[in-house]
Amino acid sequence: MRIDIISCLPSLLASPFDHSIIKRAKEKGLVTVHLHDLRDFTSSKHRNVDDYAYGGGAGMVMMVEPIANCISYLQKERSYDEIIYMTPDGITLNQAMANGLSLLKNIIILCGHYKGIDERIRETFITREISIGDYVLSGGELAAAVLSDAIIRLIPGVLSDETSALTDSFQDGLLAPPVYTRPYDYHGQKVPDVLLSGNEKEIEKWRFDKAVERTKKRRPDLLE
Ligand SMILES: C[S@@+](CC[C@H](N)C(=O)[O-])C[C@H]1O[C@@H](n2cnc3c(N)ncnc32)[C@H](O)[C@@H]1O
Repeated sequence: MRIDIISCLPSLLASPFDHSIIKRAKEKGLVTVHLHDLRDFTSSKHRNVDDYAYGGGAGMVMMVEPIANCISYLQKERSYDEIIYMTPDGITLNQAMANGLSLLKNIIILCGHYKGIDERIRETFITREISIGDYVLSGGELAAAVLSDAIIRLIPGVLSDETSALTDSFQDGLLAPPVYTRPYDYHGQKVPDVLLSGNEKEIEKWRFDKAVERTKKRRPDLLE
């Protein structure tokens, strides 16, 4: 999979893609992440990417031209399955969406800043608008990193134990059950005996029951 991320602050995104699972996915050749600086696509002398909002009011707006130039440049090289704009008024990201996106070949993720991007970009180029929650960030970079991480770990072959992703929260509509590691006894708090029993069927049943119990308690909406 190839992910192209367009931003006016690409340095914000250097680190999230250089660690842990994403780093290994890149090393295995399962994903490539390309950062594009919007300022490289402006014709303005001062490399501006924003301007005052028509109608007045506080906050600058990201201009059409640099974004359109950058997307068109990328589209000349290859076709894209989705051109995603990270925005608080988009559809809220969930695991089902991440599963679907992880099967795509080429995607673009556009990060906004200031008051957002000129509406005409949304009308002309954007195929999907995604929010990472009902709150407002200063820019789309952290949201793009969250989306990319959620997608990349689901690409077949990325996790060394494929079943690990399948037993995570939301994958089957339930929250994940509790997990334990050594020591067996921590100041009197003991690991449930069934997990030491070696009886796979019993362990699976215990995990399922706990997942249902936890979901009922914390996220009953998932069971509706
Ligand atoms: C300060 S925000 C703009 C908010 C916009 N004026 C509004 O009220 O909807 C700047 C940029 O951060 C990104 N952003 C902020 N919150 C986000 C969220 N919850 N999910 C995804 N992207 C977000 C978007 O790319 C947005 O264009």
